[in-house]
Amino acid sequence: MKFFMDSANIQEIQHGLELGLVDGVTTNPALLAREAGDWQEIASSICSMVQGPVSLEVMGSEAGEMVQEARELARLGSNIVVKIPMTMQGLKAVRILTDENIATNVTLVFSPLQALLAAKAGAGYVSPFVGRLDDLGQNGMDLASQIIDIYENYAIDTQIIVASVRHPGHVLESALMGADIVTVPYKGLNMLAEHPMTDLGIKSFLQAWQTREK
Ligand code: E4P
Repeated sequence: MKFFMDSANIQEIQHGLELGLVDGVTTNPALLAREAGDWQEIASSICSMVQGPVSLEVMGSEAGEMVQEARELARLGSNIVVKIPMTMQGLKAVRILTDENIATNVTLVFSPLQALLAAKAGAGYVSPFVGRLDDLGQNGMDLASQIIDIYENYAIDTQIIVASVRHPGHVLESALMGADIVTVPYKGLNMLAEHPMTDLGIKSFLQAWQTREK
């Protein structure tokens, strides 16, 4: 399973890369809005730092606007994947962009049938937002599991990015069900690495070493 970092922060991405844990990056307008400076420069820097795909989202709502924006975003780096919201206009844009060989990630996916439509339109990636479904009292990972089943049924090669990840349980379930990718915020990566028993173990071994017979 690939790990993408859900961040537009250069330092966070750099740290994740040093750990070998960043196979790609996803951003969204809210993440980019948190960063000071010119967003295009930030996006270009991320594209040159990361070898894998970097998702950047369009802001338009009409297919024509989205296609125009996508063409401009695609110039920021050869690894750009354009995030298109899951609407009818978005699907129309995905079809056009696919024909132009511009990679797309259909975002804000909340139902398995939306994911099927996105794949039929030619999306390279789909992003089911599992945490936001959990927020509504539903089980977001059921959505991921249904998309995996549907894609397997028809040998669809659109890759599934489990998104809106809130805790290690989402990552564990994604790995167990064979999701292609999880996109995890920086804080989430730390949560995956840490365990209190690891810390206790280190402490007790150190103590034993320091109090050894000499
Ligand atoms: C994914 O591509 C999105 O950027 C992200 O996972 C959204 O997560 P949130 O629901 O925590 O905002």
